[in-house]
Amino acid sequence: MKLKKFYYKKIKSTNDTALKYIINGVEKGVILADVQTKGKGRRGKKWISIRGNLFMSIFFKIQNYTSLKKITKLNCLLVRECLQKFTEFKVVTKKPNDIFIKKQKICGILQEIIFKKEKKYLVVGIGVNLNKSPEIKNYSTNFINSFTKKNVTRLEIFKLLCDSYEKKINQFN
Ligand code: BTN
Repeated sequence: MKLKKFYYKKIKSTNDTALKYIINGVEKGVILADVQTKGKGRRGKKWISIRGNLFMSIFFKIQNYTSLKKITKLNCLLVRECLQKFTEFKVVTKKPNDIFIKKQKICGILQEIIFKKEKKYLVVGIGVNLNKSPEIKNYSTNFINSFTKKNVTRLEIFKLLCDSYEKKINQFN
């Protein structure tokens, strides 16, 4: 299933924009932003959004009965498999949905669910530290390009993630 792409130079949060699109009747798509001014992390935390890193949100309709457990597992799998293509170091998932390399967080996923006219929609926000990583108190962080032989671009990861979701979106139901 093809997903329409929406690109922004600067945005508050790609997840919030995806939620607005859904409210306005757009059923599926991908939001990409160069930078976020109010990036959201899990549990009400902020996601420090350094220019050069990847900020994107994929949104689509899912069945009302699809469990959160299944959604979380699948998102982690798709993102992990995609990032693994760029590095020889082992990319691992840390529950519930963080992605680490060598015990350092390189990617976070924020899932949000919204109902519109009794239909259920999923927003998958993906933040990948690509070229820089913010310093966080509670855990170590790093960025993908410190684990690759040749520099990976935002667009390479973005394209691969879009392809992967376009191919596997039906598995969410
Ligand atoms: C976490 O680990 O706390 C989840 C972080 C998710 C960050 C991404 S960046 C793109 C998308 N837009 C947001 O505002 N948050 C997610």
